[in-house]
This record gives sequence, structure tokens and C-alpha cells, in this order.
Amino acid sequence: MAQQTIDKQELAARLQPFAQQHLLQFWEELSPSQQQGLAAQVQAVDFQLVDSLFHGNEEQPDWDELSRRAEPPPAVRLSEQTPDCSSAAINEGVKALRAGQVGVLITAGGQGSRLGFDLPKSLYPIGPISGATLLQIHIEKVRAIAKRYGVPVPLYLMTSPATHDDTVRFLSENQRFGLNEEDLFVFCQGTMPAVDIQTGKLLLAEKDRLFLSPDGHGGTVAALGNSRALEHMQSRGIEQLFYLQIDNPLVPICDPLLIGHHLLAGSELTSLTVQKKHALEKWGNFAMIDGHMHVIEYSDLPDDVAHEKDAQGNLKLWAGSLAIHVFERKLFERAMEKTDLLPFHVARKKVPYIAEDGSQVTPSEPNALKFERFIFDLLPAAERPLVVEYHEEECFAPLKNASGAEIDTPEYVRQMMLAQYRRWLTTAGAVVSPEINVEISPLFAMDAAEVAASIKPGQKFEKSQYLA
Ligand code: UTP
Repeated sequence: MAQQTIDKQELAARLQPFAQQHLLQFWEELSPSQQQGLAAQVQAVDFQLVDSLFHGNEEQPDWDELSRRAEPPPAVRLSEQTPDCSSAAINEGVKALRAGQVGVLITAGGQGSRLGFDLPKSLYPIGPISGATLLQIHIEKVRAIAKRYGVPVPLYLMTSPATHDDTVRFLSENQRFGLNEEDLFVFCQGTMPAVDIQTGKLLLAEKDRLFLSPDGHGGTVAALGNSRALEHMQSRGIEQLFYLQIDNPLVPICDPLLIGHHLLAGSELTSLTVQKKHALEKWGNFAMIDGHMHVIEYSDLPDDVAHEKDAQGNLKLWAGSLAIHVFERKLFERAMEKTDLLPFHVARKKVPYIAEDGSQVTPSEPNALKFERFIFDLLPAAERPLVVEYHEEECFAPLKNASGAEIDTPEYVRQMMLAQYRRWLTTAGAVVSPEINVEISPLFAMDAAEVAASIKPGQKFEKSQYLA
């Protein structure tokens, strides 16, 4: 009992300067273990930061003004990717891969709220025939790369409290899909509370629990440090990290072309890009501002700037961001030294909460502010940044929305996957009946050349099947 009183007083003193004492409103109704749980959550919150974010004291960039000064990024355009230029880059990438200097970093901590799937998005069965999950597909790519280059490729997989337990359980039930235990490093990102839009008061998800959500994919930087993943990378001799997000099964993981251009340019951060199809495409925009690379979100880019043309009549800001990057490990290490390197973005969201009278409220309009960091905010800190242009159909089909939405649905993603496999098969000389579907496991082939090596010349495919 004495312990309980002390805890409550201490907590109240911590909350009082920020007018957040309501978080202890149901304290007396809670069991000792619930009290301990709530106390631990309260102690972990940086109230000063939350207060400052709510009051708008954190400096926000003036994108309207900045984007008017934006220039296109340094780029390797598709038109410049001659056989000579590409083979020089590929050789360099292959050298680094064979030397075991490249690791893979996947973010899988998001809540996947738009998809409306009960489990973490990484467990979504996206394989059009196999029903393989996103996680399985990515892990098989990592294993295929390791086999191709004859070295183990460590996978750093970021989860969040929202996805961690299910992900770890699924990995263990499936023996990590064949990945060696020492080549998988799972680490959990941090969280941020949500606050009431009007008052800035933190919201309770339950009487004994704060509403907390993952702190954005930009939370990767802090989580890499806190989990000692960076030290693990260093001990394994990993110099470059191929970064992707779990929801895009088309990512050409560890493509030596991208890694090679990154190394040849001596870049700290090289990004895969695709040319925007129209000015208002809903992608982030790569742009150089005052000598630093930025991603300007489509919602921050004024329409007139988005429509600006270059001397050839093409879109000036043409390069879309697909969240596929190669990071030099040292950039993460530098970022760790500066805790405020990545700013928080503020979003208005609908967040269910426990009201003062103890009732559960499910709002129909945005009632809360959530705070997230974005990984692309690391770009301005990178020396010699670069983007390398790819064809969209070879690298981008993100699973974002539930069936019925206009884009990025399970049906769309499966269609893009099947179209890629069909291209690989026909390029490899196979004859594929138009009415059938063929799915290809990364362990069977990762591109048309590997397909060609695994099938008979002119092989006919007349039945839908999964090549594994
Ligand atoms: P999104 O921003 O698209 O979020 O994440 P989401 O969770 O997938 O989906 P919505 O917005 O809730 O519908 C892009 C990628 O970043 C990861 C996601 O797992 C996904 O791979 N991510 C996002 C994190 O790892 N942590 C986060 O806090 C947010």
C-alpha cells in the first residue's frame, strides 16, 4: 500500500507540470500490476517533447517556400543506363555483396490500419498461388541473394509493440523460413502517445493503459541504436544496408545495380526512384534544396511547383520516392549521435479512448494528434546522395488498402506480381498460355536470367502453378 502511494505521488509530480494528471484518474480502481504497467508507460513518455509538439513549438519547414528553390536530384536516369555504365555498377555491387558487406533492413512495425487485416501486414498471404506471406517472400529473397553470392546476408527486421509478438511467433512456427538464426536480428521500435486535438491531453486506451502507437518508420534510427543492431552490423562487417518496407513484394532486394551506383558515387544514401507519371502523383518527391537531398511529400508540394517543367518540357521534380534505399551504416551511426536529427510529423487521426467518466469513445471524426518520424528525413544529412531510376513495374506494388479501394489493394499487388513473373518467363524464352498464372518463388529465380537457367528452352506453361 505504501509502495502504491509513493508511486502515485511520484507520477503525479511528473505529470503536473504538463497538466496530464488525468492519466491517474482511475488509479484507485487498478490492481497493483495494472498500476505498475501504467507507471512504466508514464515514465517512458517524454512529456516535454509531446507538449512542445502539441503547441507547435517544434520548428516546421516552410515547404511552400523551400519547394520553390528545389532542384531535381543527382540521378542515374534510365536513359543513361548504357550496358557499360550498368555493368560497371553491377560489378561494384557484386563485389560488395560477395565480400559480405551488405545487410538487409526491413521495417515491419506499422499498424496497417488501411488494410484492415487483423494480424501484422507482414503476415498477409499475398502470394497469388502459394498464399506466401509478405514476410516469407522477403526472407526467401534474402536467402536467394545469400546463395547467389555465397555469403550469409543478415536481415534486420524492425517490428513495433503492435506487431512484435505475432511476427516473432510466426517466424518461430515457420523456422524463420529457412533463414539461419544468426542471420536474423529482430528489433522493436519505440512508441509515441496520441493527444487530444483540442487540449493536448494524452489519451488513455484503457483505464490502465496509454494510447501508444509506433513512432513511424523514422523510428528505425533510434531503434537500431537502442537494440544494438548497429553494433551487430559492425561486428559482422556490414557496411551498407539495403532498406525496404515490408508491404512491397516487388522490391529488388540487394540489386547490385543500385548498390553499385551507391558505391561508385561514394554516396551515404542512394535511393531507388521511378519517374512520376503525372505532376500530382501521390508519391514523395526527391529534390535538392540548398545542396541537400529531401523528400517533399506530395501533400506539401504546391500544385504550381509540381507542374513546373524543365527546358525539355519534362516535369522538373520528376523523381518519386518508393521507400527503397541503400544506407551507408555510418550514416545511421552519425544520426544516432544527434537525438533530434529526425523531426516529428503531426497527423490528425481518429483515436478511440477512455473518457473522463470511464466510458469508451469511438470518434467518427479526427479527435487526436499522432506523432511520427519518417525515414526519408535522414536524407538531408547524407553526403553525396543519389537516386537511380527504375521501371515501376519491376520494383513497386505496395499493399496498402483493402479490396475495393482504387489502388494498392491485394488484387492489384497480385496482378503486378504475376505480370512480373510472366515477363521473366517470356524473356527467358518460355511459352506461357494467356489464361494461366505462374508464381515464382525467389528461391526458384529472382529475375529472367535465373528463370532461363532453371527451365528448358522454349518450355511451355499451360497450367497455373507455383515454381518453388
Ligand atoms: P505506412 O506508413 O504505409 O503505414 O508504412 P502502414 O502501417 O503500413 O499502414 P497504415 O498507414 O496504418 O494503413 C510504410 C512502411 O513503414 C513501416 C510499415 O510497416 C510499412 O512497412 N512502418 C510504418 C513502421 O515500421 N513503423 C511505423 O511506425 C510506421
